[in-house]
Amino acid sequence: MKVDNLSVHFGHRSYEIHFGAGILSELGELCRSLSLGEKVAVITNPVIGGSYFHGVSASLQAAGYSVTGVEIPDGESYKCSETVNSIYDSLISAGLTRDSFLVALGGGVVGDITGFAASTYLRGVPFIQIPTSLLAQVDSSVGGKTGINHPLGKNLIGTFHQPCMVLIDISTLETLPEREYISGLAEVIKYGVICDRSFFEYLAENRSAILKRDSECLLHVIRTSCALKASVVEQDEKESGYRAILNYGHSFAHAIEGLTDYSRFLHGEAVAMGMAQSAILSEMKGYASPDDTQRILELIRSMNLPTELIPSPAMSYRRLMQRDKKVRDGGIHFVFNKGIGAAAIEKVSDWDFLLKNVSQ
Ligand SMILES: NC(=O)c1ccc[n+]([C@@H]2O[C@H](COP(=O)([O-])OP(=O)(O)OC[C@H]3O[C@@H](n4cnc5c(N)ncnc54)[C@H](O)[C@@H]3O)[C@@H](O)[C@H]2O)c1
Ligand SMILES: [Zn+2]
Repeated sequence: MKVDNLSVHFGHRSYEIHFGAGILSELGELCRSLSLGEKVAVITNPVIGGSYFHGVSASLQAAGYSVTGVEIPDGESYKCSETVNSIYDSLISAGLTRDSFLVALGGGVVGDITGFAASTYLRGVPFIQIPTSLLAQVDSSVGGKTGINHPLGKNLIGTFHQPCMVLIDISTLETLPEREYISGLAEVIKYGVICDRSFFEYLAENRSAILKRDSECLLHVIRTSCALKASVVEQDEKESGYRAILNYGHSFAHAIEGLTDYSRFLHGEAVAMGMAQSAILSEMKGYASPDDTQRILELIRSMNLPTELIPSPAMSYRRLMQRDKKVRDGGIHFVFNKGIGAAAIEKVSDWDFLLKNVSQ
């Protein structure tokens, strides 16, 4: 089996991302190259666990590890403190000590909550990410943000805790529902727009192979996305500045998610609308040409993602956008694309400008 890899550099917390098709069975051997303890808990949900837990567990056992499976319910609403407590209960009952480690087998929800449990259990144990959704493979499994939701807001409780390895098996995407797959493509497009023009061109040229989930194409897309995200977070792990460019499209996306009670759109769908709006505003600011904007909108549409903002009063958008963590002194730290392939963050206090295209 061919395993390709990429290093993410964080000094003594550096780690490898392994990529390949059908490489879940390599997990045990890959773990042996790290100095990890003998006990491991694999956290997953019934949907993903049903297809992949057995393979993961068999590989770990074959390499000599003692494996405990921990199942949490499927869904964003379970990314909460009650679920974390149930994970702690399982870890304590299974006798996992400080030299044990955790494996997150699932999408961003499983990854975020497992990372959070790993960073807090016994004051911190190592963990491995095995992301199984496209969004998790290109975004949430890399960079070390972990977290859970609070009744008063999403991702309000969390830590920075880098994984000690990420294993990306693109074969797991075969069971991912189409809508989830398309939604993950929004974050992929984002990297092209804000970081890498030639990657943007690649996406535009290979859109039909990407939509068909062609393996070779997918490996390139996922590897490049991870490399681009890693290079951003390596420069600014805790988001004191530069890392915030990854929030491109997200100020509007979070408002749209809030306006629709987090139920009508998947995250990537809201990000797609937010990116389209950010591209239009970037052109209005003179940072991008009309041609750049057309190409960005076209790529988003051609991946079957939406570009139109949902109609709602400007005041409602403003109220939700102001709630964002990126707002200080009434101004929002907005991410603009500079042409295609670069971005800049700028504080904007002119809400009339930001909300010019919002219609009721
Ligand atoms: N930590 C970060 O940096 C970061 C970044 C972006 C998003 N996130 C978080 O990630 C979460 C969203 O992640 P997501 O989009 O993966 O959602 P998710 O984890 O809820 O997965 C989406 C759905 O797909 C299913 N699924 C996943 N992989 C599958 C597979 N291979 N086959 C069949 N079904 C599969 C899941 O069970 C779920 O029903 C949010 O909680 C968000 O806050 C975190
Ligand atoms: Zn996002």
